[in-house]
Amino acid sequence: MNKKIALTGIKPTGSLHIGNYFGAIKPALALTANYETRYFIADYHALNTMKDPAELSVSIREVAAGWLAAGLDPDKVIFYRQSSIPEVFELTTMLMAFTSKGLMNRAHAYKAIVQENNEKQNDPDAGVNMGLFTYPVLMAADIIIFDSDVVPVGKDQVQHIEMAQDIAQSINANYKQEVLRVPQPAVQENSAVVPGLDGRKMSKSYGNTIPLFAPEKNLRKLIMRIVTNSQAMEEPKDPETSQIFLLYKLFALPEEQAALAARYRAGGMGWGEAKEELFRVVNRELSPLRERFQAITADPAGLDRILAAGAEKARPIAAATLRRFRKAAGI
Ligand code: ADP
Ligand code: TRP
Repeated sequence: MNKKIALTGIKPTGSLHIGNYFGAIKPALALTANYETRYFIADYHALNTMKDPAELSVSIREVAAGWLAAGLDPDKVIFYRQSSIPEVFELTTMLMAFTSKGLMNRAHAYKAIVQENNEKQNDPDAGVNMGLFTYPVLMAADIIIFDSDVVPVGKDQVQHIEMAQDIAQSINANYKQEVLRVPQPAVQENSAVVPGLDGRKMSKSYGNTIPLFAPEKNLRKLIMRIVTNSQAMEEPKDPETSQIFLLYKLFALPEEQAALAARYRAGGMGWGEAKEELFRVVNRELSPLRERFQAITADPAGLDRILAAGAEKARPIAAATLRRFRKAAGI
């Protein structure tokens, strides 16, 4: 039986953080056992917001090296840069013809900017470029062009995948045949939203991240900065409402989780101690990643070769989807 296809992409808009790791990279890598997998760097998506060439090219390399450091095996995963697959952009144009403007108006990211503009009494579309407005169409093309069955992502991306479903379904309905495969989102429930240092969702845009490859010293400093309440050391504490414990659960073994939860409930443990425990398990998991990351970034030519080989494997698949669609469309 043919394996199903899993695909996901990460925008290179800054350093990877543990939200990206648990929300996107780790679940995606876990799927490599049972799926055919296609993972990529969404560099044209990043161009919507990143206009500094040096920053963008560093970020592209960082995200690529990040995937590899986290364990991506380029012999098992088709691993490439979005910008290396021109067929994606051709498909985007074809999808545009089946995407109502109203659908784009409803996209959360666009709506949030319009709302902010309205609140500030700016022009509603101030700061909105067409790349941003049509973002979900490019993302649909990324997904659809590789016949993806499942798309592992964090919760915030589910709406985009539902839009890709809508677009693919309306094309299939129009041509009365399954021209394009309809994808499904795959959200990891226990890490759907990784909290940041301030308790909000961890995100580059909030400046509340724990970077995946932070040097040990910085990692420790960041963890010590996690916001806590003013409960005294001797008071019993509820692990389930503690940011520190929520993060701890991502890194610790079940028996470690049970032990720390018991110390919370018993009282007598201050927040400083809980943070030390958190640092210990975070550093245990991230140290080997950090070392691999340094080795990979020290060999940029090697990284380029891996990505070029991935693009070579990816392009024939993309071309086949385009051919199918063009034929159905009469082009
Ligand atoms: P950011 O919010 O930092 O800009 P991105 O939007 O680039 O992150 O997200 C890249 C991937 O990581 C997406 O699949 C997204 O769903 C996932 N992700 C980002 N932040 C988190 C988080 N705090 N918890 C879970 N998943 C996340
Ligand atoms: N929009 C995604 C994000 O911001 C990145 C992305 C681009 C993506 N194309 C994709 C994710 C295709 C999954 C599938 O995180």
